[in-house]
Parts: sequence; C-alpha cells; structure tokens
Amino acid sequence: MNQPLITVEGLTKRFDVSRSFKDVFTGNHPQLQAVSDVDFTLAPGETLGIVGESGCGKTTLGRMLIKLISATEGKVMFDGKDISEMTRTEELEFRRRAQLVFQNPFDALNPHFTILRSLTEPLHNARVPREEHGQRIAEAMSMVHLPALEHFLQSFPHQLSGGQLQRVVLARALVLRPDFIVADEPVSMLDVSVRAGILNVLREVRDTMGLAAVFISHDLALVRYVCERTITMYLGAVVEDGPTAAIVENPLHPYTKALVQAVPIPRVDQSHAPLPITGGLPDARNPPSGCRFRDRCPLAEARCAAEIPRLREVGGGRRVACHLVEPA
Ligand SMILES: Nc1ncnc2c1ncn2[C@@H]1O[C@H](COP(=O)(O)OP(=O)(O)OP(=O)(O)O)[C@@H](O)[C@H]1O
Ligand SMILES: [Mg+2]
Repeated sequence: MNQPLITVEGLTKRFDVSRSFKDVFTGNHPQLQAVSDVDFTLAPGETLGIVGESGCGKTTLGRMLIKLISATEGKVMFDGKDISEMTRTEELEFRRRAQLVFQNPFDALNPHFTILRSLTEPLHNARVPREEHGQRIAEAMSMVHLPALEHFLQSFPHQLSGGQLQRVVLARALVLRPDFIVADEPVSMLDVSVRAGILNVLREVRDTMGLAAVFISHDLALVRYVCERTITMYLGAVVEDGPTAAIVENPLHPYTKALVQAVPIPRVDQSHAPLPITGGLPDARNPPSGCRFRDRCPLAEARCAAEIPRLREVGGGRRVACHLVEPA
C-alpha cells in the first residue's frame, strides 16, 4: 500500500459549553466532546466518506483535517508532517495542497466579487505567478464543466444558479491543484435535480486528478456514489470503517445497519426512510458509559454498558467498534 497522505491519531476535540448558574457557583467548566479519539489513514488519491447523524462530529473532524480548527488531543500528519508543527513555508504549502469545499457557496464566495476575482484570490494568496492564472482558471473551469468565458467570469454570485455556484466553489478549490479536499455536505443545499450533476463532477475530479478526498454527508446514498471507503461516526467516535461496497452490502455495526436500512434504494434522488432506531443522539456533554450507542441499540447486552468497545480489525480491510461483532 502507498504511504498514507494523511494519518490521524487519537484525534479529539472538546468544546467549552456555556455554564449554568450552578456551574458558575461550583467552578465547573462543562465541556462537550465533539470528536473522540479518532484514528484512520487516507492514501493518496483515496476517497473517504464520513457519515453519521447531525451533530455526530463530522464537520468538526473535517475542519481539524485541514487545520481550520486545532485539535484538543491527538494529531493529523499530512505527508509525514504533523500539521500543528509546520513552519510558515510548510504551512503555506499545506494551505495550497489541502482545500475545503464549503456547503454554502456564500460562505466561500464574496457576493461583491466577480467569479474571476473569487478564482484569482486563492492563486494570489498562494503566490502563484500571475502569468499562470489564466491557464489555471481555464483548467479548473473545464474540470467543473463551466464556460471560462469572459461574460461568465465577470458575473457576480447572485447572477448564477445554485448548481453553477457550487461548481464555482469547487473550481475555486481546484485552481490550486490540491492533493486533498474536504467536501462538507457539498450538495445538501442543492435541489435534488442538480445534485447528480455535481456528484458526477466530483467523481470525474476523483478519477482524473487523483485527488484524495474526504466527503462528509449524513446521507449514505451520496457517499456510496462517490467514495471508495466509508467511516461511520456516532457521537464523535468512529464505529465502523471499510470499503463502501462492503459497508453498504453487509454493514456490521448495528448503527451502520440502521443507516443502511434508511437508504432502501441506492439512488441519490430518492427520498429516505426514517432511521429504524428510536431516540436521538445522546447529550455529548454526558455520553453513556461503555458503548455510546447502547441506549439505542436493539442488541445491547450488559457488557455494552460496562466496557467501551475499541475499533478493531475484522478482516477485509474493515474495522468495527462493537462487542457483538466477531472477527472474520
Ligand atoms: N464551536 C463550537 N462550540 C461548541 N460546540 C460545538 C462547536 N462546534 C460544534 N459543536 C458541537 O459539537 C458537536 C458536533 O458538531 P458538528 O458540527 O461537528 O456535527 P456534524 O456531524 O457536522 O453535524 P451536521 O450533520 O448537523 O452538520 C455538536 O454537538 C455541536 O453542537
Ligand atoms: Mg456538519
């Protein structure tokens, strides 16, 4: 196997949460563990999906991977280098090589800038010589199937459709010829009818640019369409990791099973059944003892409350954190 592009070790993020009156008097500083002891590797060119319910820590994990926020514990190695220990020059190069594709185009694009200016800005920041800008922009626009025509480049975000805007956001990440992108719910703001177009672009980018990608979604059907490998997260922790096809066809963790059952027909334009488990995510400030999923798990036994299940290899490139799954 290739040397990993990214290695994540023991990655944990805790946020301070607001204090109640009682906390203030008792000197208590409550914290919420948004991401909890996550380990995985990503090979160059590999596409990894991260799925799980709202609030399970996907965005927080994605943001730590590209150093938009720092980790509380653990580390992220990019190409063999700890991203929290980079020199200024290494950091500049990392900021070029690792890009985020925003969910909301208006977070990524300044509404007062023309498309051309939005595409030029990252090149300028990364100190790409001016004479290369035209070529880079033409290349990125062609990747996302948008016309690199003067009138288009001179338009403003409000003059474009949602689908066009999301392609511009992707082009803005691609002008820097990155090695790695994090796409956080990149199609969730779009109409179902334009989703497939963007997902196809993401697949083409994956195939032609050999870009490693982390694709975050609460929707397993989307991840299945784009990602070779998938990680399931529950309340900040990874509960399952493996090839997407294996996970979808034969999910091992009871939580992944529930996610798969909620996607009965593997089509991206299909509406979803509700999750076949009861309740919502437990309070992340005070997670259950033992297995975090146990109070919603139909199979939970006494030891699930007593012992935290560790993520362990079960063969076929798969890892599962469940006491009830036997290694293959
Ligand atoms: N800056 C912050 N301060 C305090 N708590 C936060 C902060 N950011 C996220 N959280 C909490 O951390 C947990 C994980 O949030 P995160 O946004 O990573 O989840 P998510 O899986 O991306 O959810 P969604 O699918 O809704 O986008 C949530 O409980 C959230 O309320
Ligand atoms: Mg999120």
